[in-house]
Amino acid sequence: MKEMLLRSIVVLLFAASSTAIAQEFAGSESCKNCHSAAYNNWKASGHPYKIQKLQASTGPIYPVLKAQKTVGSQVNYELKSGIPTPPSGLTWDSLGFVLGGYHSNARFLDKEGYIIYGNNRQYNLPTSKWVAYTSGTLTKASYAYSCYKCHTTGPSKTKTTEFQMYPGIEGSWAEAGVGCEGCHGPSKAHTTNPSTKPPKEGLTTCNNCHARDRNEGTTTYPWNQRVEWQARTVNNVSTGFIRHREQGDMMLASKHGKAGFTCATCHDPHKGVYFVQGGLKASASCQTCHPNKQISGHDVLKTKAECTDCHMPFAARNGDQLTPYISEQSTHYWKIITDPVTMFDNLQDIASTATPPVTYKFIKTDAAGMSGVTLDYTCMQCHTDKNVTWASTYAKRMHSGITAVDAASEVPSAYTLGQNYPNPFNPATTISFAIPKSSFVTLKVYSVTGELVSTVLEQGMRAGWHNVTFNAGNLASGVYLYRIQAADFSYARKMVLTR
Ligand code: HEC
Ligand code: HEC
Ligand code: HEC
Ligand code: HEC
Ligand code: HEC
Ligand code: HEC
Ligand code: HEC
Ligand code: HEC
Repeated sequence: MKEMLLRSIVVLLFAASSTAIAQEFAGSESCKNCHSAAYNNWKASGHPYKIQKLQASTGPIYPVLKAQKTVGSQVNYELKSGIPTPPSGLTWDSLGFVLGGYHSNARFLDKEGYIIYGNNRQYNLPTSKWVAYTSGTLTKASYAYSCYKCHTTGPSKTKTTEFQMYPGIEGSWAEAGVGCEGCHGPSKAHTTNPSTKPPKEGLTTCNNCHARDRNEGTTTYPWNQRVEWQARTVNNVSTGFIRHREQGDMMLASKHGKAGFTCATCHDPHKGVYFVQGGLKASASCQTCHPNKQISGHDVLKTKAECTDCHMPFAARNGDQLTPYISEQSTHYWKIITDPVTMFDNLQDIASTATPPVTYKFIKTDAAGMSGVTLDYTCMQCHTDKNVTWASTYAKRMHSGITAVDAASEVPSAYTLGQNYPNPFNPATTISFAIPKSSFVTLKVYSVTGELVSTVLEQGMRAGWHNVTFNAGNLASGVYLYRIQAADFSYARKMVLTR
């Protein structure tokens, strides 16, 4: 009896305190003093910049970040955080909020909180281009809860007094962007009494935002039945292999997902990955768990084919499709389907009731029902002149040996410019490159300011791998660029001369 009474008091106390905590957000700034490491890492990642309120004529503020993005010999661009100017014909003053602008693209809300549509109303960071954000006659639309629920902390459909001035915004939020409490839950009580733990562990929340067609994390169809419902016509997948923010869908359809991985198995949730590679935990290196995966036929030093190039190709699209096979975001299936099929083969019409769009199952599965990327996305990103039939004959033996074939084939199948060796160097270094066809080749060395300092090669060459020696003579110490031009292929790398 006594025991029961005690228990009900405890229950009451808990119930009372949890309702009191329930809606109370403290804001990320209030965590700063006690958790400075988490705060500083988070502040440099993309999460806080998902939506920003514009203050007077100041444009949006981002951390100053840059990264060189390369995929084989095909894609090489510098990604920079931030938006250079307001959209054409508009000033920062005339806008209310900016969505994104940290890594992929940026969209805008007007002063009343309506989303602005039309030509040149979306800025794509990888290509530094202004593009249309939906076409047609629609010029503005409400910023709905279904949109900001993933972009803000403490989203609500209820309008607070503070949000009355934004008729375009359906309800309100506690903090713009994904703040600390976007993952940990409202933690005001914790800030005054740290022994009251934040309500959420953080781990389970990723898929509320990094997965599609979920209703607060609930599955609406089996994970491995991912469909590209936006794709309207075969061979014209407007959105790439998969779309952005589908990492959760993919992971749960993979063996890593079945093995109980969470996003935090690999990611440090407070750090970004687009710019700062430190966002992946050291324990998440593929080789830690999968040692001895030699890559047959690929001299890694020359081809730069790393685990992620084949297993996590950049095939997901947010803003830009960079080539037919490459976009700006990596896949999270890890599995490679080795059958000679492209994503366009054997399409199953999934939701024939939806007219239009017709939805197809582009994502292929193996016999055990596990999803994966097809060889067109895995191999053709570098072997542009090959097809899945060619790739399939090698793919199944990728880690068990195709050396006999290598010896026989002296002709490389893709253009490559290798990293010079040694590097840093003094005064001579070797540069290797491959050309699949006989071509006229120029190889030139430039200073960092773009001044030509040496022409190493300027001649017709046969197909194959070639090595040339570059002697720096009496050049000064510093960083130099060497650029190859062969047929349509052009590529540059850096090298360092240290006297
Ligand atoms: C007055 C200092 C203080 C403030 C302010 C503060 N914390 Fe803490 N926090 C602590 C202490 C102390 C711990 C316990 C550390 C330990 O046990 O190792 C802690 C632990 C945590 C943990 C780990 C909880 C667990 O289950 O182990 C999280 C998550 C956390 N804080 C998030 C936050 C967030 C989010 C904010 C801002 C809303 C915040 N903290 C503000 C002092 C603070
Ligand atoms: C289910 C959650 C969710 C919904 C709903 C959602 N987004 Fe996002 N959005 C994300 C995530 C997660 C990312 C980051 C994607 C990634 O890196 O894979 C993102 C990225 C973006 C970016 C690019 C950010 C940058 O810095 O490059 C923009 C812009 C954007 N979303 C706008 C919108 C708009 C407009 C809507 C409503 C029509 C919307 N989103 C609905 C989760 C969501
Ligand atoms: C994207 C979701 C997310 C955001 C945003 C986030 N956290 Fe975390 N946090 C996590 C997860 C998940 C863990 C558990 C880490 C793990 O298992 O590796 C964690 C762990 C922690 C811990 C305990 C372990 C540690 O790293 O010290 C603290 C304290 C913490 N977070 C504070 C914060 C603060 C303060 C902020 C804001 C500046 C913040 N978090 C923002 C997801 C997040
Ligand atoms: C097995 C390790 C692993 C797991 C588990 C994992 N990731 Fe990743 N993730 C990576 C690696 C590696 C990259 C970087 C790929 C590259 O750029 O080469 C990455 C990149 C990303 C990126 C941004 C860059 C990009 O290229 O798209 C986002 C966003 C992301 N992961 C989110 C998630 C989420 C959300 C989860 C959980 C659903 C998750 N990841 C689970 C390893 C992992
Ligand atoms: C409330 C929604 C939300 C939650 C919860 C969330 N994310 Fe995100 N995440 C986003 C949005 C939106 C972006 C795009 C931000 C931008 O770049 O503008 C993003 C971007 C990212 C990125 C790429 C940004 C960078 O800095 O490299 C990674 C990696 C990532 N999230 C991982 C995670 C992990 C891991 C978790 C769970 C621990 C998680 N996210 C939880 C909404 C969320
Ligand atoms: C923490 C350990 C761990 C890390 C880190 C890890 N894996 Fe795995 N991986 C596993 C486990 C466990 C399985 C499932 C094995 C099984 O079920 O047979 C697996 C399975 C796989 C598979 C087989 C998928 C299939 O459906 O057949 C591939 C491919 C793979 N991992 C690639 C990678 C790559 C690439 C990375 C680095 C980005 C990586 N893994 C990081 C542990 C890990
Ligand atoms: C040139 C492309 C390529 C690279 C680079 C590559 N892989 Fe693979 N990997 C494949 C292909 C193709 C398969 C499928 C083989 C099959 O299904 O029989 C595969 C299969 C796997 C598997 C599952 C089957 C198995 O053999 O266990 C794992 C795990 C794996 N790779 C890990 C890695 C790791 C770790 C790295 C980096 C050291 C790596 N891979 C680099 C192409 C590649
Ligand atoms: C990151 C770019 C890259 C990716 C991804 C890649 N390769 Fe390669 N691969 C190369 C380059 C460059 C060479 C030339 C190597 C040489 O000649 O030494 C090569 C060589 C080969 C060779 C040697 C024989 C020949 O015909 O050139 C085979 C076979 C091969 N790749 C198959 C594949 C398959 C199958 C895949 C997908 C599972 C794949 N590669 C993915 C860049 C790549």
